[in-house]
Amino acid sequence: MTPNAATKFTHTPVLLNAILDHLSEMPDEGWFVDGTFGRGGHTRAILSAKKDWRVLALDCDLDAIEFAQREFQNDIMSGRLKVLHAEFSDVDTWIKALQADTNNKTAHVIGMLLDLGVSSPQLDEGRRGFSFYHEGPLDMRMNARDTVTAADIVNTWPEKDLNDLFHHLGEVRSPFRVSRKIVERRREKRFSTTRELADLIAEASGWHKKGHHPATNFFMAIRIQVNHELERLSQALPKIVEQLSPGGRVFVITFHSLEDRIVKNAFRQFVAGNKGFLINKKVIQASWDEKKSNPRARSAKLRIFERSQK
Ligand SMILES: C[S@@+](CC[C@H](N)C(=O)[O-])C[C@H]1O[C@@H](n2cnc3c(N)ncnc32)[C@H](O)[C@@H]1O
Repeated sequence: MTPNAATKFTHTPVLLNAILDHLSEMPDEGWFVDGTFGRGGHTRAILSAKKDWRVLALDCDLDAIEFAQREFQNDIMSGRLKVLHAEFSDVDTWIKALQADTNNKTAHVIGMLLDLGVSSPQLDEGRRGFSFYHEGPLDMRMNARDTVTAADIVNTWPEKDLNDLFHHLGEVRSPFRVSRKIVERRREKRFSTTRELADLIAEASGWHKKGHHPATNFFMAIRIQVNHELERLSQALPKIVEQLSPGGRVFVITFHSLEDRIVKNAFRQFVAGNKGFLINKKVIQASWDEKKSNPRARSAKLRIFERSQK
């Protein structure tokens, strides 16, 4: 097979053992929804650990879907895996479609996973425009159906809105110099590549921490905005909980404090509304060994909610 974008890069699933450890007390059969399929690391392990489960896998990125269709052919053919190009914020629609499709209105959902953020292949591939280390178009869309790119934001947003974006989503304390320089520079020439923006940020802000590129938080803020990450997460959580059958669990892995706050507050509301309870009072984090071997695991936080039996 000719190596292409989807096979060249790999992704190591985060907190996999922590998730597998919490599958044992769950219902024996039904559908598990992997809302962020990526390269299928979690899906593969779940299919292998739970022989009577089936997985509905969603991803908004066509590269992920193409990968699934090629690398998970056997599971798809056997009916254990169904893969859809979809936003997880539309999960209710897809579950209803699954029930209609399998002609089984009682096809029940016993669990769902959201492993948020970008996958390693998305970051590593220059043409996706997510990384300041790889030259590429300033794009950052996970879903090609979205219309606004990173370049649109950087080239058109007013200076004040850029400041707010970097401050709120990037948690940059003083983004003013960078925003001002962006606005000055784009009057002469529009930004079109990741390098142009990364170089300007490095020049305007300087290196403060060894090993931490000054563009890190600025790029993250733009990516979160381009992909409506916080809105889609907030929309998805109540829909997921409504779809879960009694005893079903939702697992959410976050990588950013704002995401984690959304999950924490949503879970609290579900508990207050007697919809279920928290499996772990404190967030689950990766072990020292996992953090050492997989840098993505360093900021990962896992929260688990169980739907009550009522
Ligand atoms: C961190 S990766 C998941 C990796 C996966 N768990 C694995 O082990 O390979 C996140 C994936 O979620 C997808 N994604 C992000 N936001 C999404 C959304 N709103 N709807 C559907 N997929 C989304 C991304 O395209 C990416 O492939």
